[in-house]
Amino acid sequence: MKLSHPIRVLLLGAPGSGKGTQTSRLLKDFPINSLSSGDILRSQIKERTPVGITAQEYITNGSLVPDKVMIDLITGHLKTHNWLNSSTNWLLDGFPRTKPQAIELNKVLGSRSCPLNLVVELDVPQSLILQRIEARWVHLNSGRVYNLDYNPPKVPYKDDITGEPLTKRDDDTAAVFQKRLDGYNEEIKGLRQVYEEEGVLFKISGETSDIIYPQLKQLVLDKFS
Ligand code: AP5
Ligand code: MG
Repeated sequence: MKLSHPIRVLLLGAPGSGKGTQTSRLLKDFPINSLSSGDILRSQIKERTPVGITAQEYITNGSLVPDKVMIDLITGHLKTHNWLNSSTNWLLDGFPRTKPQAIELNKVLGSRSCPLNLVVELDVPQSLILQRIEARWVHLNSGRVYNLDYNPPKVPYKDDITGEPLTKRDDDTAAVFQKRLDGYNEEIKGLRQVYEEEGVLFKISGETSDIIYPQLKQLVLDKFS
């Protein structure tokens, strides 16, 4: 696919709204690199790095990891992977999560003349989300996400690509999940304010990823092809 200009997009949305699911679909249709803040934190936890050791407690109890840790982690990744230029297409899932994170990201992108050009808020009824989370299984190494009802793995409890066992996330329990949802509802107001002022925020509403994805794909096509 030929793009008219580089894609630099954020996906916002409540926990369980389908950010990871929509990212996988976009990767199949567009030549884009993606980074999920949750996936990168889970891999740091698995490797027992200093960031992972700090993050573990916050994630397990459903709190946000401190802004400074997240800003250093994600902007560090953007720099080391050489995404801060005028030609690389990328998508961030789960960062920024707070207004201070959004402001810091804007500063870094502005200093390299590669500002965000699209922010999409996935709007899924929150009454549906808990049910999905209880049926979610993940492949930790790749971030691939399954749902026992909606997109089950080909072999039960095994990753489709590697055949490795799937696991549950520690933070996918009902009590922790509610705390993550409450945190999201608080933080999203500040993020909306930043991105509405910049005129880059679009909201896509729907009950399922199958309703949301065609709208998301069309939005990306309209803006970048
Ligand atoms: P993170 O991993 O980013 O979690 P999250 O935002 O809570 O989002 P999820 O990954 O739970 O959901 P998702 O929107 O990706 O949905 P999915 O596609 O899996 O962050 C985890 C933690 O890390 C945070 O709580 C925080 O502690 C920390 N953290 C991360 N970033 C941070 C930051 N910037 N600052 C501070 N702390 C940070 O879909 C959900 C399920 O639904 C799946 O099972 C999927 O298969 C299923 N599904 C999808 N579509 C459908 C459908 N149409 N019908 C039925 N099921 C469906
Ligand atoms: Mg996710």
